[in-house]
Amino acid sequence: MSAPNSHTPSLLRQPAAVAILLAIAVYGAGWAVHAARAPEWLTGALAAVIAAAVLSLVLAHTGPGVTAGYALACTAAAGGWLAYAGAFSPTTWLAIAALAGAVTVLAAAYPLVRRHQQRLAEEARRRAAEAARLAEEHKWPDLLRRLGYPGTSFRSQTRTRSGHTIRLGLPANGKVRYSTLAAATERIEIAARLRHGAVQMERGGRADEVLLHVAERDVLADTIELPDGRQPLSVNRPLPVGLHEDGTVCSVTLREVATLIVGLRGAGKSNLINVLIAQLSQCTDALIFMIDLKGGRTALPWLQPWLERRTRRPVIDWVATTRQEAELMLRAVLRGIDARAHSGAGGEKITPSANLPAVILIVEEVAVIFGMITGPRTSLEGTTNTTLAALGTQVTQLGRSEAIDPVLVTQRGAVTMIGSADLKSQCALRIGLGVATEADARLVIPDDLHIAANLARLSHPGSGIVQSRDGRPMPVKFYRLTHERIAGIAERAGADRPAPDPVLIQAFGDAYLKRWSEERAGHLRGARVRSNAQAVVTPPLPTAGPRSDTDREFAEIVAGLADEDPGGRAGPGGKADLVACPGADPGAGPARTRMLQLLDTVGVMGATTARLQSMLQVEGIDAARQSLDRWLTEEESAGRVKRASHGRWKTR
Ligand SMILES: Nc1ncnc2c1ncn2[C@@H]1O[C@H](COP(=O)(O)OP(=O)(O)OP(=O)(O)O)[C@@H](O)[C@H]1O
Ligand SMILES: [Mg+2]
Repeated sequence: MSAPNSHTPSLLRQPAAVAILLAIAVYGAGWAVHAARAPEWLTGALAAVIAAAVLSLVLAHTGPGVTAGYALACTAAAGGWLAYAGAFSPTTWLAIAALAGAVTVLAAAYPLVRRHQQRLAEEARRRAAEAARLAEEHKWPDLLRRLGYPGTSFRSQTRTRSGHTIRLGLPANGKVRYSTLAAATERIEIAARLRHGAVQMERGGRADEVLLHVAERDVLADTIELPDGRQPLSVNRPLPVGLHEDGTVCSVTLREVATLIVGLRGAGKSNLINVLIAQLSQCTDALIFMIDLKGGRTALPWLQPWLERRTRRPVIDWVATTRQEAELMLRAVLRGIDARAHSGAGGEKITPSANLPAVILIVEEVAVIFGMITGPRTSLEGTTNTTLAALGTQVTQLGRSEAIDPVLVTQRGAVTMIGSADLKSQCALRIGLGVATEADARLVIPDDLHIAANLARLSHPGSGIVQSRDGRPMPVKFYRLTHERIAGIAERAGADRPAPDPVLIQAFGDAYLKRWSEERAGHLRGARVRSNAQAVVTPPLPTAGPRSDTDREFAEIVAGLADEDPGGRAGPGGKADLVACPGADPGAGPARTRMLQLLDTVGVMGATTARLQSMLQVEGIDAARQSLDRWLTEEESAGRVKRASHGRWKTR
């Protein structure tokens, strides 16, 4: 009796029905044999051949065991009965009773046989799965052993978006370390017959652990649209910017760090900036300032709904598209940092909120304004890059505790492109997109040669590596945000953008209030903003007086402040007056007081006299080196500052 399977018609799935059908078939065969009057030896031989055929089929399928025994019993019973029916008659009571008895007994035994067979099949499946698991567990430790790295052990394996992540234990003798394996990724790829770039190593949660990521599919080649998130975000928390190769979300925190984004032409920098702006536009505790000297190409789509009066406020609160405007902005931001520092708001450091928002200053293509090779040679020709780079460095150094954080974008990580080594060293969050060579990758990620090597291998636009204190060194595919979607996001977000707090507005002064004026931003207002698929739109030119709700609102705030604070710090040029440092010599002039304040803000790093001099110069304060040396020596005697290594000074 053969076992019914899932393809068997439902009638045959009932053992009783099958038994009756088979009994009828055997009985019919008995009739035929009897009617044909075949010789007994022929009937016996035929029955034996059929029984042997059925039995060998069952044996081939299940092997020796209970099922084969059951099949033997069935065929023996059927063959014996056929031989009897052929020799005598199928119609005798004995023949009928024998057939009915045999069928009843065999049908009753069938469920037991079937259960046994299922148990055996289940066990076989379990054994096969266990063997496959063991083979999988041994695969990587064995492969590493063959490559000359013995002693690693399998700990666990998880499925990821691109393939698998295997957690491996490292041998206790310390001979195989993360760096050993990270340097061997190419050999591992060859040994495992995988594509180039399919294996990534990551440090595990413990020192004796590494994560081996095997990408079976190149997910970095995919395009992942920025999810349509409309929930409010906060600049104090990580902002999602893409997906790691293993499918986990990659988020970056822009607060309290300076960010450096490096990528060759077409690597996806502007797209990433758009993604960051989109996420920041959902943060009611962050203002976005942007320096975009490529004619505002990246910034304009974000301003368009506001320029067309379709929304209340612009997503980017201040855009500089000229060197002069960039200088105005950077100087205003420095005044803002100073004003916030002296306002005492937020205690030790400011925690941004809607009333006290952070300022995220995005600089598209840093090399154009900070780079050492480009820009006017002298200040007679216009604002030099040296001045702008010094301002940028100062903003970066002093802005952290005042919630003013820069995001710098450049094509190469070389200091000549960024403007100053100080500025670069301050960038704790680094995002590398496609770079030309491994040497270039090391300029972005200097601490880990293996990660830099991985970065150099990324070829798809929009893929890169994020290096931060708590980040994972795994390739990331950044979300894609097309220009068509920007207008919608900017229009929605414009209804709920924050304004600077009164302290900032007062410190920014006219430079800020008149940022959208005809002479400074007329080119933006009159700009013909074209998005790929849309018609050309020419926004109306501004009228005299406050030009928008935004400007009117700010003018009112400033007027209110002036009433409250007659000795207000925003001077006619918007320059903050210097307030005497509490610990400073009462006879000291503003330059000396400011020098002490600056020394205070650079903290444990300290600063040399030359550095202090250039920091003062950036703020328009000229002080001779000798004077600074004298003041510092006097302050040292007064116990307010102390000398540190390499000619640096620190406050006590
Ligand atoms: N995250 C992404 N996903 C898919 N494609 C992307 C992504 N980022 C960028 N691209 C593709 O790469 C192209 C160039 O991107 P983008 O303009 O951002 O580069 P860029 O680095 O700013 O270039 P440039 O240095 O010339 O300004 C885009 O037009 C798009 O086709
Ligand atoms: Mg670009």
